[in-house]
Amino acid sequence: MSDGISRRTVLTTGAAAAIVGAGAGAVGVALLGSPGRGPSLWSRPDQSGTQPVGGLHLQFGKDASTEVVVSWHTIDAVHNPRVMIGTPTSGFGRVVQAETRTYRDAKSKTEVRVHHARLDSLAPDTDYVYAALHDGTDPELGTIRTAPSGRSPFCFTSFGDQATPTLGRLTEKSYRSDNLGSPAAGDTTTAIERLGPLFNLVNGDLCYANLAHDRIRCWSDWFDNNTRSARYRPWMPAAGNHENEFGNGPVGYAAYQTYFVLPDSGSDAELRGLWYSFTAGSVRVISLNNDDICFQDGGNSYIHGYSGGAQKRWLENELTDARADPRVDWVVVCMHQTAISTADHTNGADLGIRQEWLPLFDHHQVDLVVCGHEHHYERSHPVRGTQDNQTRTPIPVDDRTDVIDTSKGTVHLVIGGGGTSVPSNAMFFPQPRCRVVTGVGTYDPAIWRKTPIYVVEDAPWSAFRDRENPYGFVAFDVDPGSPGGNTSMKATHYAVNGPYGAISVVEQFTLTRPRRG
Ligand SMILES: [Fe+2]
Repeated sequence: MSDGISRRTVLTTGAAAAIVGAGAGAVGVALLGSPGRGPSLWSRPDQSGTQPVGGLHLQFGKDASTEVVVSWHTIDAVHNPRVMIGTPTSGFGRVVQAETRTYRDAKSKTEVRVHHARLDSLAPDTDYVYAALHDGTDPELGTIRTAPSGRSPFCFTSFGDQATPTLGRLTEKSYRSDNLGSPAAGDTTTAIERLGPLFNLVNGDLCYANLAHDRIRCWSDWFDNNTRSARYRPWMPAAGNHENEFGNGPVGYAAYQTYFVLPDSGSDAELRGLWYSFTAGSVRVISLNNDDICFQDGGNSYIHGYSGGAQKRWLENELTDARADPRVDWVVVCMHQTAISTADHTNGADLGIRQEWLPLFDHHQVDLVVCGHEHHYERSHPVRGTQDNQTRTPIPVDDRTDVIDTSKGTVHLVIGGGGTSVPSNAMFFPQPRCRVVTGVGTYDPAIWRKTPIYVVEDAPWSAFRDRENPYGFVAFDVDPGSPGGNTSMKATHYAVNGPYGAISVVEQFTLTRPRRG
């Protein structure tokens, strides 16, 4: 008998339930009372120094009511990575093997292994318990709630530009953050978990690894901070300019593309995960990568036009499909760079988005766009069409700010106060104006990028700007309404005020549109 097998411990459902009960809150109560129904096996830690399950997190599949991916990472090779899953009343009855994907960081030459277990055929609107493990280590525990199928209420949240609450680099006699981190990056996670949404949209610029001396530590720190939420509810990301890391993959996103397994969009393998969609209840979420169409040079390399139009063609098909689907009422776009911003001395808005995406958003009546890139909160009136001017200024179609009919215009939200050390809430123009990047000049070695060309416009589309709070997020409560009536989405912008999930309501408004079915 091998040493590994001799150490194997047979755990009945009851024993597993006791372990889960320590980590899964209310779910554990039901488990403790469940009858034993078949053994589950795992190897106890064999003290061989096997790396633990790191950065455990979830992603939804294309159908969020039945498909979830469970992911974690190691540097070392591991044996038999797998997820044991069941329901609170039945224990861990099903074992799903994980697929391991890798990337080698071009800067450190370190290979990162990310283990992804795809769970399918789940029941909608259902709680599951799971354990992620590989041989020789303790299981890490989490819970999953699948999305409802069809028109049911649920809540989701959104923010971008988080960074990490950790200090990544020793300089002279003290440690400092070299990835724009701040303690607020931890506070935001606590605040999200306080609300417990079905999922959280991460609007790009996750950890700023492309700025960090140690990129892999930076990614690890981000997942270590967020696994306390992301192992219970998917944090569904959009790739931002700071996910673009020099030397990592054909367009710089190899790390992002390896850490996350996102719904298949049919793209080429080398562009996998950079754009995708999923459906939760009556909401179709479309995640885009704007570096493809933005003029601004914001990453480690200038990749404008990298998809050769493939992302735009996919988006057009995806929007057509969403509006043809009688189960879908809401179309929400999650992306990083923004079409609107009234902050001075920071990134501004990008003409590329206005030229490439806004006509599609108009034609297909996209309801809501959430983005980041600017490190503050603001929102637009519903906009439809653009002025025939140099910046393609979006045209507001209504000035009511409490209830907005999104079948008449798209509301854009900048939610970029996720936790960085450089908030921009104190940088707003006194009166609403917008700096629009309309192109780039030559490469400037002083700023390590192409010089942006700005044109400033008046911003008649501006509806609300939060000058007071550097950090926050938005929660969306979807109310399906009744057949023949309207469906609505109540948005609440929370400021994150400190540790322990301290939050306060800054503003609320309601999006509404006719329900399709
Ligand atoms: Fe950014």
